[in-house]
Amino acid sequence: MKYFIGADHAGIKIKSFVKELFEKKGHEVIDLGPFNEDRVDYPDFAQKVCESVLENEGTKGILICGTGLGMSMSANKFDGIRAALCHNEYSAAMAREHNDANVLCLGERVSGQGTVEYIIDAWDSHKFQGGRHTGRVEKINKLGSCRV
Ligand code: RB5
Repeated sequence: MKYFIGADHAGIKIKSFVKELFEKKGHEVIDLGPFNEDRVDYPDFAQKVCESVLENEGTKGILICGTGLGMSMSANKFDGIRAALCHNEYSAAMAREHNDANVLCLGERVSGQGTVEYIIDAWDSHKFQGGRHTGRVEKINKLGSCRV
C-alpha cells in the first residue's frame, strides 16, 4: 500500500517514527512535510495529503497534529476522504473494519509512541468487512456533496 503522510509542528516529532513503522510493514510512505519544526497550519498539510490520496487511487493517508482533531476535521472536508482520529487500537481496528477509513489521524500530544505502535498494528491488520457496512460507507460518501 502507498501512504502519504503529513503533520504540523505539533505532530512532527512522531512523524518519522510513524513513517518507519509503516515502512517496516512493507508500505511505501511519501512524506509531504513539514521538514522542520517551524509553526505551520494543519489544514495546509491535511490538504496536501488528502489531495494526493484522492489523485492516486488505492492509496491512503496519515495525518498528525497535537490532538489529531484539526487534521481530522480538515481531512473530512474532502469528498471521498474518510479520516479517522484514533487514540487507541480498538478505534483503529473499527476504523478499518466498519468505516473503511482511508486516512488515519493521530495526536502526538495525546498518544505516546507505545500507543501509536499499537494503533498502527491494529490499523494495518484489520480489513474492511464489507457486508452491512458497505451501504453505510456509501451513505457517508454521498454526504460529501450535501449542502443546506
Ligand atoms: C497546534 O498548537 C495545535 O492546535 C494543532 O496541532 C492541533 O492539535 C489542532 O487540532
